[in-house]
Amino acid sequence: MTDGKSPILSVRHLSKAFGSTAVLADVNLDVPRGSIIALLGASGSGKTTLLQALAGLVSPDAGSITIDGRDMGGVPAHDRPVNMMFQSYALFPHLTVSGNVSYGLSARGTPRAEREHLVAWALELVRLEGLGARRPDQLSGGQRQRVALARCLVMKPAVLLLDEPMAALDRRLRADVQKELKSIQRKVGATFVLVTHDQDEAMAMADFIAVMEKGRIVQFGPPREVYERPNSTFVASFLGTINLFAGVARAEEPSRVRLAADDGLEVVAERSASSGANPICAIGVRPEKVLVARQPTGLANDFAGAIEQVSYGGTASDVTVRLAGGRSLEATVANSTASAAAALQAGDAVHVGFPAPAGIVFSE
Ligand SMILES: Nc1ncnc2c1ncn2[C@@H]1O[C@H](COP(=O)(O)OP(=O)(O)O)[C@@H](O)[C@H]1O
Ligand SMILES: [Mg+2]
Repeated sequence: MTDGKSPILSVRHLSKAFGSTAVLADVNLDVPRGSIIALLGASGSGKTTLLQALAGLVSPDAGSITIDGRDMGGVPAHDRPVNMMFQSYALFPHLTVSGNVSYGLSARGTPRAEREHLVAWALELVRLEGLGARRPDQLSGGQRQRVALARCLVMKPAVLLLDEPMAALDRRLRADVQKELKSIQRKVGATFVLVTHDQDEAMAMADFIAVMEKGRIVQFGPPREVYERPNSTFVASFLGTINLFAGVARAEEPSRVRLAADDGLEVVAERSASSGANPICAIGVRPEKVLVARQPTGLANDFAGAIEQVSYGGTASDVTVRLAGGRSLEATVANSTASAAAALQAGDAVHVGFPAPAGIVFSE
């Protein structure tokens, strides 16, 4: 899981309740050194509370946190080798950019010459050199975010904690800022733990995604694994769109699962090594794995239907196909050739299909 790198951050059996509500329930996590991990979950799933527990701003009821080989039990926030970039940035409005960035160093007692050197380094890193004398209200949202980032990086934390770092940014800016943040992380080699409720952001930025639900980490892995091999229908639906066939597994074949779906369809998928102990309850397929054709597809799963809706999306179009039994199937058709989706129209009789390996087998 960690590519042989020792984890810089380990969480064991961490629990926290506010009143009678369990907000963190037996959280276990290993973060490889020098990686970006995303805590991804819906609002209220406990992401911020976990981040604050790492920072020492929330004291857990049970469990342990180890950072850089040191047990954090009883270690106050200001003595932890972490820095937190808050969702609101929390810049000091009366201080200049340089003043904001050097604040933590001053508090730490770093000598002036070294402070100036480090502030210049951090401002160059976030491409704000020359703006050191400005005040936060003379900056754009994107620039304010970079000041907040510089203020953290200048402290050279072992782990940088970022709570929804893109939340205050214009949607159009986000993709660029995500790439830039990742490139800065690679440059300084720090470990980032990033909280987000945005699955696209988690996939674009993270080396590992920890999916949270109701205070638990329900899956942990690289983006590709979490997306391609979700371990539950919850994770599958949280990360993108999935067509689910709920039902009962029928024939016991060694390498394949044959499922009788609730609406009478038969669906075939490859049995995965990681199928859980629970009985199989569904087979799923991602829309981009579904082929739409005028004739039978010849694939292990093939259904006749009619196009209900085509929504054009530039790089690809989302096609909804209503099958004979009444169920709809979502397919994503790449617009890589001019003719690809242009030809498909609502009302057209089509076949949809997918090969057995494209099917994901669920037992929860
Ligand atoms: N200080 C607090 N007192 C009481 N309840 C809290 C407190 N902080 C968070 N909660 C509750 O804990 C749950 C998780 O919150 P949070 O960690 O902020 O989730 P997320 O960041 O994933 O949205 C929510 O139901 C929230 O209302
Ligand atoms: Mg939060």
